[in-house]
Amino acid sequence: MNNHTNLLDEVFEKFVSTARIFRDREVLRHDYLPEKLPHREAQIKTLGETVAPVLKGARCSNVFIYGKTGTGKTAVTKYVLQHLEVKAKELGAPVKFCYVNCRLAGTEYRVFSVLCRNIGISVPFTGLSVGEVFNRFKNGLDVSKKLLIIVLDEIDALIKARGDTLLYELTRINETLRNSKVSLIGISNDLRLKEFLDPRVLSSLSEEEIVFRPYDASELKNILSERAKLAF
Ligand SMILES: Nc1ncnc2c1ncn2[C@@H]1O[C@H](COP(=O)(O)OP(=O)(O)OP(=O)(O)O)[C@@H](O)[C@H]1O
Ligand SMILES: [Mg+2]
Repeated sequence: MNNHTNLLDEVFEKFVSTARIFRDREVLRHDYLPEKLPHREAQIKTLGETVAPVLKGARCSNVFIYGKTGTGKTAVTKYVLQHLEVKAKELGAPVKFCYVNCRLAGTEYRVFSVLCRNIGISVPFTGLSVGEVFNRFKNGLDVSKKLLIIVLDEIDALIKARGDTLLYELTRINETLRNSKVSLIGISNDLRLKEFLDPRVLSSLSEEEIVFRPYDASELKNILSERAKLAF
């Protein structure tokens, strides 16, 4: 016991006293959102212009974002919405945001539960039908009188596994809402996703499309060196 205490003392002491390797370890986490996203100015601008109408109380177009993995789709979307949220608060615009990672959520039921929780409605983990959870979301949202922007990230994973019912319901939701409006931002890293979608769903989701092409070597070098400056 005593020996182990000494051993740990030594380990901790060594850790504390050695020179720091990282200036800020957090910035190396995969979900860290940098303040600057070089080489994505065009996408930031287009997405910003697309969502801006909510600041004046109008529903914004749905957007379909696609590009290969690691091209900054999630980072740019979160970045734009964070800034939009600040602006909306400043102006007192009735805007709400909900981000769902569909791959992590895994089922329509869980995606709709996340949406429900976002507007303050709690649903049990199981026990209700998907339709019932969706109805609770729809009714709760309509009472709240908001413009809601829903980000469905990694939507391809959910659609390939379970079909496009979720998107079908969500793209039609505005037809039955009286006091609230929904806009969708669907993000996919599989361009072929379009082939899996009902044409009506596709045309509705793709009111706007934003493509994220892969970074070239010099852009990657630049991005990495910017990040390294913050981390080390
Ligand atoms: N232009 C950029 N500047 C700085 N960091 C970036 C940039 N683009 C991407 N990154 C960083 O690279 C990582 C991957 O980006 P991101 O998660 O946004 O990719 P993605 O396109 O959503 O990938 P996936 O399809 O796998 O979800 C993140 O840590 C992100 O912060
Ligand atoms: Mg992503």
